[in-house]
Amino acid sequence: MVPGYPTRLSCSVTGAGRVLVLPDRCPTGITIADPRRIRRNRAKRNAYMGISQISAVPKSSSLSQDLCQSRPYVVSVSSGKGGVGKTHIVINLAIEMQRRGLRVLVFDADLGLSSVPMLLGFAPEYNLSHVLMGSRTMNEVLLEGPEGIQIVPGSSGVQELTALTTEQQLRLICEAEELEDEFDVVLIDTCAGISSNVIFFNIASQDNIMVVYPEPASFVDAFAMMKVLAIQHHRKRFKLILNGATDEEEGRQILDRMVAVSQKSLQISVSCLGVIPQDIHIRKATRVQKAVVDLYPEAVSSRCFRKMASKLLESVPKDDFSGSLQLFWKRKTP
Ligand SMILES: Nc1ncnc2c1ncn2[C@@H]1O[C@H](COP(=O)(O)OP(=O)(O)OP(=O)(O)O)[C@@H](O)[C@H]1O
Ligand SMILES: [Mg+2]
Repeated sequence: MVPGYPTRLSCSVTGAGRVLVLPDRCPTGITIADPRRIRRNRAKRNAYMGISQISAVPKSSSLSQDLCQSRPYVVSVSSGKGGVGKTHIVINLAIEMQRRGLRVLVFDADLGLSSVPMLLGFAPEYNLSHVLMGSRTMNEVLLEGPEGIQIVPGSSGVQELTALTTEQQLRLICEAEELEDEFDVVLIDTCAGISSNVIFFNIASQDNIMVVYPEPASFVDAFAMMKVLAIQHHRKRFKLILNGATDEEEGRQILDRMVAVSQKSLQISVSCLGVIPQDIHIRKATRVQKAVVDLYPEAVSSRCFRKMASKLLESVPKDDFSGSLQLFWKRKTP
């Protein structure tokens, strides 16, 4: 039991045999999801581990082994400032990783103004708010997106969820644990800013990606966020993406300066994941609710997403699987 935890919570034995303290679940109206749905890509993943299946995509031999023998690789994508392209980055990276035969979950952690489903043309009836209220399980709200990526839709307009309570965080941990064996990679799309939810999802992740836009307010906000995560939550490793650059060279210079400043003043390790230029194809794809890598695979931004997916997967730390969703709670209360 968690010391000091409210008594109206009950104990629940999880699939993995662990006991978690949980609020009582409302059982009415629950339909059990077909578990085969989220296993559909396993054959594809297995093919990837042995013989090449998608010849156009470069593969890293150590990758599948590292990812598949462990818990999922959990990465959060955040920014200080809003509207810098986080959700597009998450969706497009997810599709590119799934194309490599990995089983990818997009976790839409924007609980105030969710946009992942909308960007892909979904209007889901159920979302994370139903999971958090106990009327649906995580499996029951999953959506299947392009290439078979799975999506946990966030919620919109539910103000109570913009700062999750301890009870809601615990429910999330338990529900997330049910999905753990089903995925190789979990990409968490957070909302902007340094809210308690954003911090929670960042510290639950193994890696933290910060997205910046080429303007001073965006750098300052991203720096502030890394500072909070580094000083108050001991996060020591960050990856930066510059989105919306006018040209690649300028983007690289901006990122290099930001890396140097952050490393020096925060004593953290910061690496550049890549630069995405301004690309009209992203906006065109947005208008028809498609991902740019799907609709315009040869667009300059699509090529960047492919490179970035490879780079991210190659950088997966082999000896640190501390981002497991089931360790949410432990990480939060050391
Ligand atoms: N490289 C780019 N070139 C052109 N347009 C882009 C690019 N990246 C993103 N956009 C556009 O910028 C807008 C914001 O993108 P997105 O919703 O992904 O940002 P966000 O950081 O997730 O926003 P929020 O903080 O509100 O969640 C969208 O209209 C998208 O089409
Ligand atoms: Mg977003």
